[in-house]
Amino acid sequence: MTGQSEKLIAIFGGSGFIGRHLVRRLAEQGWRIRVIVRDTQKASFLKVSGRVGQISLVPASSTNEQSVASAVQGADAVVNLVGILYERGKRSFQAIHINGAKNIAKACAKAGVKHLIHISALGADNASPSKYAQSKAAGETAIKDAFPGATIFRPSVVLGPEDGFFNLFGRLIQIFPIVPFFTNTVPHAEGGGGPKFQPVYVGDVVAAVSQAVSDDSYAGKTYELAGPRIYDMREIITIVNNEAQRKRWIIGLPFFVAGITAFFLQFLPKPLITPDQVKQLKIGSLATGKLPGLDAFGITPTAAEGVISTYLKRYRPLQQNKRLRIKPNK
Ligand SMILES: NC(=O)c1ccc[n+]([C@@H]2O[C@H](COP(=O)([O-])OP(=O)(O)OC[C@H]3O[C@@H](n4cnc5c(N)ncnc54)[C@H](OP(=O)(O)O)[C@@H]3O)[C@@H](O)[C@H]2O)c1
Repeated sequence: MTGQSEKLIAIFGGSGFIGRHLVRRLAEQGWRIRVIVRDTQKASFLKVSGRVGQISLVPASSTNEQSVASAVQGADAVVNLVGILYERGKRSFQAIHINGAKNIAKACAKAGVKHLIHISALGADNASPSKYAQSKAAGETAIKDAFPGATIFRPSVVLGPEDGFFNLFGRLIQIFPIVPFFTNTVPHAEGGGGPKFQPVYVGDVVAAVSQAVSDDSYAGKTYELAGPRIYDMREIITIVNNEAQRKRWIIGLPFFVAGITAFFLQFLPKPLITPDQVKQLKIGSLATGKLPGLDAFGITPTAAEGVISTYLKRYRPLQQNKRLRIKPNK
């Protein structure tokens, strides 16, 4: 414990991928944690991340102004991790990324919260062709208008055991003999490996957030969180293929194929890819270098290779685990 035991932090989206790592980290630091979730039953696994009574689960939705106001009451710090990748009915980018963020920032200002941390995304830009990226930029503006001292983080693709990105390729590699990547040029030409990414380790993201929640020197600033290396799509799929010990064909396809595929897949209850995600994918996710990054927190970014080998093993062929299997009694 670091002597923070009296302090209370409220985390919106604490049951998600980044959230569960943050909850664990802040619990180790001795914070009292209020995780604001829509379904407390579904998030009950979080309770074991701290000692008895340290973590409480409070039902609220960021889109409900009244429930947000009571959820932040008495908190010293608040973190907003709420985000969606695709729209469904009332769960639009406007409702979640902009109105929800505004509700949280307004409630924090009114309740006298000292530190507000908002998680946006690299590529947040009003002029982006992607609605997701536009809404992330508008969400930042809504936050800053209501709470100018907020700290904003823009992570690149985040990697870790429960991530959506590397695990998606792991699942595809497990099932299909051919795995495509998408490129704007001829696959074998210079730069033909598709869009570029700078994946950042979830442990580094939560390490930065856990400093910003109690340090005034990060207030009112925006940080880009990116990993130490740039990879194109083909390299990323190749790494996953190697980690999964598979020999899949990795082929480059033009982006219009991704567009057509996404058009049909967007209607699935949980779409693999949507047309808006294709627009984001085309841009990639690289730090601009114009904003401070992990170094401002004294964090040396963790290399992706060192981490993904620990959790992509699960996509290896079953025979690899034969020695571990228990033979049934005859
Ligand atoms: N993961 C990445 O690679 C990445 C990269 C860049 C930026 N980001 C941003 O980082 C943030 C966290 O990402 P993540 O990967 O941890 O996302 P995640 O796993 O999808 O978690 C999102 C969380 O938001 C909650 N939520 C959704 N709608 C809500 C609402 N109306 N009210 C309250 N809670 C709600 C979800 O809980 P329910 O169970 O209730 O749905 C979940 O706990 C997001 O803003 C995301 O855009 C992530």
